[in-house]
Order: sequence, then structure tokens, then C-alpha cells
Amino acid sequence: MKNSIIEKIKVLKQKKNAIILAHNYQIGEVQDIADFAGDSLDLSKKAADTSADVILFCGVRFMAESAKILSPEKTVLLPDINAGCPLADMITVEKLKEKKKEHPDALVVCYVNTLVEIKAESDICCTSANVAKVVNSIPANKPIIFVPDKCLGSYASKMTKRDLILWDGYCSIHTSISAEEIRLLKDKHPQAKVLAHPECIKEVLDIADCVLSTNGMIDYVKQSSSSEFIIGTDTGIIHRLKKENPKKNFYPASSLAECKSMKLTNLEKVLFSLEEMKYEINIPEDIRLKAKEPIDKMLSL
Ligand code: 13P
Repeated sequence: MKNSIIEKIKVLKQKKNAIILAHNYQIGEVQDIADFAGDSLDLSKKAADTSADVILFCGVRFMAESAKILSPEKTVLLPDINAGCPLADMITVEKLKEKKKEHPDALVVCYVNTLVEIKAESDICCTSANVAKVVNSIPANKPIIFVPDKCLGSYASKMTKRDLILWDGYCSIHTSISAEEIRLLKDKHPQAKVLAHPECIKEVLDIADCVLSTNGMIDYVKQSSSSEFIIGTDTGIIHRLKKENPKKNFYPASSLAECKSMKLTNLEKVLFSLEEMKYEINIPEDIRLKAKEPIDKMLSL
């Protein structure tokens, strides 16, 4: 059954000149069928570079929107229309405009986990992989409003030694990971390196050996001489870590760290998406052009 779905996906992919991009949090079988699996930064770059006519994005809405912003001439598909990002929904344009009025001199740095309308109101975008670089690219005398993730913002503030005006948003998956749980795992596996995503709370980041984006974790594990790792992010990444490092062991920092939206996509929906060309992401051109500026600025760094 699965094999026949995979075969059909491969045939349709070729027929429609489609590329499948999957985020590192997708379920294993979706990552395996993808042409590229990666973190948000990597996938944005892939979306901008591809010569395919169709980008089928296995991730959440803001990721598919980023692909459409960068490649408007392509058809961008999101296999499950309900795949949203609760963190991205923690900010509205109205509230952001109010904040900008409170701080008229400030520039807005938006995390890539934002919807297109928020990017259109921002000055520069960032991902978990380049947040410090992006903040450091802004003149030291410029105030910065950082949206919407307060944990990533605090981390960026610490890394760059700059005060940031933080939004009160957070990823409930990452904030559910506790330092206490990690300490208990460390007691059981004292040699394990602790890797944490910067969306985690400060107490977790403080005890981590390294704070990394999802691709950063993939690279770190590959080059590390350690054989055990405690993984402080969505458990979906463990599929790829195990596949690429079969002799190493991985322990999820929390078995509850699983983003439901990221797990909505499956092989059946990927096939449906290619068959029906659904769900197509479309963005009004004026908003797209405004949202492209902060992404272009980030990619040019
Ligand atoms: P990465 O860019 O590190 O893959 O993170 C994306 C994300 O949505 C984290 O919740």
C-alpha cells in the first residue's frame, strides 16, 4: 500500500515537474519522500533556487508562504490546509502596528515563523539559524522590536548583548521542555551532549551544550565524537538524526515535544496534493512584495 503511494507520488512529481520540500519536524515517511529536508533557512534558500514548476511544501503555512514570496511564478502547495503555526498566530498586524507607534524609531525583526502580513510590516526577517547575525547587522543605536518569539528574542539579546523589545509569543512545544527533565536524562546518560533549539526557555538553554537550529543539530551530531545526545526540540528531527547516524543514540528532552501541525502531513495527503494541485498558496502581489523585502535582506547577509 505505502509502496504504491510512493510510486504514484514519484510519477506525478516528474509529470508535474514538482519538488518536495520537507521540514525536519515532518513524520519520517514524508521526510524520506522529499527531495530536500531541512530547517527554515535552508528550505527558504531551496525554494528560491529551484527550477521546478511546483513546490510541494511539507511543513506549516508560513513556510509555504515563504516559498511563494520567493518564487511567485511557481505553484506552491501545502498538503494540509490546517497546518498552521500557533506561534505565528500569536501576533496580529493591528497589534504590531500599535507596537510600532509606541516605538517609532525602532526596526522590526520578524522570526520567519510569522504570516506574510507580519513580514510585510517588518524590516528584516531571521530564522533560528541566523538570529544573532541578523540582529548584529542592525546599527547599534537602532532600537529593535523582535517578534513574535520571546524565547528566541531573549537568546538573541544575550548573544548580541543588545536590549530588544520583545513580543510575548512563544512555541508551546519548545517551552514544554524543562531543565528538570533534561537533568534527569543527564543522570541516566552522563556522556550525552544536550542540544537545544533557541525557542526553548532560558533555563534549558543555560544547561545546553549547544543551542542550534534543526539543521545546526544535524550538522553538530554528524561531526561530533560523542555517541549520545539529548535533543531539545520537536521529536520529529530524531528520524533524520538516526537515519544519518545509525550508531549514535538520541534521547528526546521531552516525549511531549511534538508539534501536531507539523505531523498533519502524511503520504496520502502528499499524493492528494499532487493529484488535485491543492492547497495552493496565493498571496496578493502588494503584500508579497512588501514581505519579500525583509526576507531578501536576511538572505543577502
Ligand atoms: P528551524 O528553522 O530551526 O528548523 O525551526 C523551525 C521551527 O519552526 C521551530 O519551531
